[in-house]
Amino acid sequence: MKISFISPQIKEGQARSVVVLPVFKGAKPSDAYKTYDKLSKKRVSAAAKAGLVDGRMGKNTEILGPDGTKTNRLYVTGCGKLDEFNTEKFGARVTKALLMCGETSLVIHLDGFGLSPTDAAKAALGTVLASYRFDKYRTTLKADKKPSLKNVKIAIEHPSKARAAWKYFYGPVGEGTLLARDLVMEPANKLYPQSYARRIKKMETQKETAGLKVQILGEAAMKKLGMGALLGVGQGSPRASQLVIMKWDGGKKGTKPVCLVGKGVTFDTGGISLKPGAGMWDMKGDMGGSAAVVGAMHTIAARKAKANVIGIVGLVENMPDGKAQNPGDIVTSMSGQTIEVQNTDAEGRLVLADALWYAKEKFKPKAMIDLATLTGAIIVSLGHEHAGVFTNSDEIAEQLQKAGDHSTEAVWRLPLNKAYDKLIDSPNADMKNISAGPDGAGSITAGQFLQRYVGDIPWAHVDIAGTAWKSNRSDPREPTWATGFGARLMNRWVADNHEG
Ligand code: BES
Ligand code: MN
Ligand code: ZN
Repeated sequence: MKISFISPQIKEGQARSVVVLPVFKGAKPSDAYKTYDKLSKKRVSAAAKAGLVDGRMGKNTEILGPDGTKTNRLYVTGCGKLDEFNTEKFGARVTKALLMCGETSLVIHLDGFGLSPTDAAKAALGTVLASYRFDKYRTTLKADKKPSLKNVKIAIEHPSKARAAWKYFYGPVGEGTLLARDLVMEPANKLYPQSYARRIKKMETQKETAGLKVQILGEAAMKKLGMGALLGVGQGSPRASQLVIMKWDGGKKGTKPVCLVGKGVTFDTGGISLKPGAGMWDMKGDMGGSAAVVGAMHTIAARKAKANVIGIVGLVENMPDGKAQNPGDIVTSMSGQTIEVQNTDAEGRLVLADALWYAKEKFKPKAMIDLATLTGAIIVSLGHEHAGVFTNSDEIAEQLQKAGDHSTEAVWRLPLNKAYDKLIDSPNADMKNISAGPDGAGSITAGQFLQRYVGDIPWAHVDIAGTAWKSNRSDPREPTWATGFGARLMNRWVADNHEG
């Protein structure tokens, strides 16, 4: 989608394809509204008089090709109360409504209501999020089933300021989220550890992310480092495991970085503790945590953030095989701690154990956050509305809560403590990778497991198993499956707490 920002004035005789005119409850109509009313010989106010629009949210009307306006349609849309107006949601709603309408370009008039240039940039973000599709493998899609809309122009006072907010923040946020969605959507025969690592490596040479450095560790390098927990997970797959490190040095030299660490299980069959067949295809998305990290790193690099940020993703495929690890196997992690793998389907924590330890040892970060589609249990506790947060830092808990409020990627904190930690003790090794069934608290014990690999570093774990993809979307900014959850949250967290 091509986005641009234009000044409010309407030139006489100018041809436009679709013009969007918002109407609020209890607010005066804008000049744009009045101009189009005049040009159309009162067709707009006639529609209002007939009760077709009255400012109530979702009450919309379309006026086709009104004489004198040189537009193909006027889309007059009710937006509720001005002081409750969310331009991002609005941009998304209008885009969803008109994406396939047969017209190619949209002018949204946000001028005349005292909205800011940033509000306009947010509307554009809404447009970008709502226009997302994953059609790359569809070869027989008919022309009328494809989006017709190509350009969205937003009319606002001081468009150059809106352009700047778009270029240096909201545009990159949109790109990062769409990248994360694309990665989650890709099937596991196309996106596997090595192809995924190559795709990340490409970011080094892409114009938008110039300056980002990418390093790939293969199995031999990881073996040398002693990453027995991560390597054990990938052992049953013919596809080699990878650890990818992305570095963005935009902050002051010598300031400690923050680390973002992602679970990248490109497919999770469960391994020898095989998952049931029904719905297993969802597990192509079990790399959602890593996608969030890659998306966030894209955004951070594209907007040239003044922060030192390291992204680390552990990429593995969890397969059953003659060579796969067995339930009961004991592996040694890079930290030296041993793990009894009682269930090969609790693999994400094994990958993260080595990735987190590596982050801590190698970069001595001032804070680190991991994201993972870690437990089905988090869906039982929080459904698809909040991701779960587990942390050793009240400060980070609060920061993430705030970042979620800003970005609409909401999180909810759950506890960690000694009593839960005990549940993963094992008589055969330093710990086991699951607690006993009747203990419950499956998401918390997973968090306790990870905490054993972060030492004293201020750290948070974000369980996105319920939010990385969803089948019933509740918001026009969300697509039908992969949400890209986490990319935006991490960018916001860095912007608010680690920049400048
Ligand atoms: N990738 C799954 C978690 C998951 C479940 C993500 C549903 C998204 C939707 C994870 O690797 C897993 O299998 N976890 C097990 C842990 C159990 C064996 C302790 C689970 O949640 O059942
Ligand atoms: Mn699993
Ligand atoms: Zn998994």
